[in-house]
Amino acid sequence: MVVFSLFRFSPLIPNDMTDNGSEPRALKILLVEDDGFLLRTISDYLSNRGIEVWTASNGKEAIKHLSADPFDLILTDIIMPEMDGIELLRYVRKRMPDLPVIIITSSDDINYSIEALRFNANDYILKPVSMEELATRIALTFMKTEALKREKIQQFRMVEKVMEKDKRVEETFLRSIRSFINAIEARDRYTKGHSLRVSDLVDQLLKKLGINSDMSYDTVLASQLHDIGKMGVSDIILNKHTGLSNDEFHIMKTHPEVGYFILKPILSEEGLKGILHHHERWDGEGYPMNLSGHGIPLGARIINLADSYDAMVSDRNYRRSLDVPQALAEIEKCAGAQFDPDLVPAFVEVVRENNRREAARAAIRVVEPLTDLPAAVTSGHRNSF
Ligand SMILES: [Fe+2]
Repeated sequence: MVVFSLFRFSPLIPNDMTDNGSEPRALKILLVEDDGFLLRTISDYLSNRGIEVWTASNGKEAIKHLSADPFDLILTDIIMPEMDGIELLRYVRKRMPDLPVIIITSSDDINYSIEALRFNANDYILKPVSMEELATRIALTFMKTEALKREKIQQFRMVEKVMEKDKRVEETFLRSIRSFINAIEARDRYTKGHSLRVSDLVDQLLKKLGINSDMSYDTVLASQLHDIGKMGVSDIILNKHTGLSNDEFHIMKTHPEVGYFILKPILSEEGLKGILHHHERWDGEGYPMNLSGHGIPLGARIINLADSYDAMVSDRNYRRSLDVPQALAEIEKCAGAQFDPDLVPAFVEVVRENNRREAARAAIRVVEPLTDLPAAVTSGHRNSF
């Protein structure tokens, strides 16, 4: 009786489960029953209590209503012509798994009732139907369903919040990385854009090699920051126009270890290895630890290739750049000495593909009609910029 009273006084439900302030609406029930007298009795009883009741005399009719309108609950008999309650239940469970269904059954149909529960009917009520019991069962089923829905929505919102927080943390992290890159490049105008070009090549080479894992993410990050340890090298040495003395070179060679130390609190072990060993050589003549061959972490071998290539094709304060074919010839010459010989062919392919793309883009730019340019350009008023 208590539940019935609750039910009688609260026949309205929110328009949706998002609590967005929309107007509540009447509870809407689909009643499926081939016994005309029982259908009218239940329908009148529920309608008089402010519930919107739609009726059907078998499963087929019910499906027509279901495909046209959303319902809050189905109340269905089991044995009916054309399509029985069990078939209707199967249909509903496939397409509307959250829609509550209460079975109305006679004591003779107890096996059907068990079958119905097997297909996840929410409850069943025995004939002859007591209206008070019916109201109680509807109220209980409805409240349970709503509680489950609310729980699901809350879980979903919690997951959303966690994901949003993770996203903000990652964005802050990536912005910090960008700040570090700016700090490196502010020290040396000749290396402007170097970090991002290197990381771009590293990313492409990893993809070419089919490496797509946490290791590749960490290696790309490390490649962006590989020279951060140069922050510990004086401007005089960094910007020197002539060759470095032995002492100066010794100081310069500390930058991988300084970089490792700077980034230890924020990079993964994989990323840190990329920073620490990016000047090791395949033949063991590199620094800081004279590692050789496969003893050098893969990420560091990849960064070394991309870093060396970009340095070759860039002007530095102490020498002019090589052109692309010259730089690639140098890379190939050093395969097995400075570079991992198994990585070199894939790297050369990446650079050649980039060059072909760049050449195609340049060709398109050349044939662009002048009329697409701003009027100030085509009319020759260059000084207005
Ligand atoms: Fe370096």
